[in-house]
Amino acid sequence: MKVILVNGSPHEKGCTYTALCEAKKVLEENGIESEIFWIGSKPIAGCRGCGACAKIGKCVIDDTVNEFAELTQTADGYIFGSPVHYASAGGAITSFMDRAFYSGKAKLFGKPAAAIVSCRRGGASAAFDQMNKYFTINCMPIVSSNYWNQVHGNTPEEVLRDEEGIQTVQILARNMAWLLKCIEIGGENGINVPAPEPKRRTNFIR
Ligand SMILES: Cc1cc2nc3c(=O)[nH]c(=O)nc-3n(C[C@H](O)[C@H](O)[C@H](O)COP(=O)(O)O)c2cc1C
Repeated sequence: MKVILVNGSPHEKGCTYTALCEAKKVLEENGIESEIFWIGSKPIAGCRGCGACAKIGKCVIDDTVNEFAELTQTADGYIFGSPVHYASAGGAITSFMDRAFYSGKAKLFGKPAAAIVSCRRGGASAAFDQMNKYFTINCMPIVSSNYWNQVHGNTPEEVLRDEEGIQTVQILARNMAWLLKCIEIGGENGINVPAPEPKRRTNFIR
């Protein structure tokens, strides 16, 4: 079983990465393979809404979103990390998730997921709520911890001094490992994710 931890910060080895590393350690201690995927520091375009992904099965903008889509072929769970920018998830990870979910929702469907946010001081729970919306529109069980998954720090060293934040991400990772094992045992006993239904789309035009 494998979890992809997406570092949605422009900093490859910054605060978000530091929090994800703590989650990664615990996942591995619990027998879950894991990989940190960095979205990079190049500009990431937002979704063009062209709808081409529905036909070609990937985003027409060929960047890290499609690299991530390759990894989703074999992943069982996801943790998306973001720095807090103006009390929201960062702009790059927002564009990344818009496109990754719009073009790759089928592969993400039904897989456990969680968000972790890193902030200096404020806006963490607003950013956290924003990121959880991607999971709840795609039948993805949200893995929780004993607090909202946030760390505080302006540097990796400060994040590591946030004892409560670090404990939160460690408990989250342990819960992710537990849920993945339950899902695996369920599958072996014929209990699988309910198949997606065709969506009844109503655009509030009546
Ligand atoms: C453009 C920008 C906006 C930010 N906005 C906030 C904010 O609203 N609240 C906050 O606490 N920190 C804010 N920060 C600080 C970062 O969230 C914080 O330092 C974070 O831990 C950095 O994570 P990283 O090293 O993974 O990028 C902001 C930083 C930047 C660059």
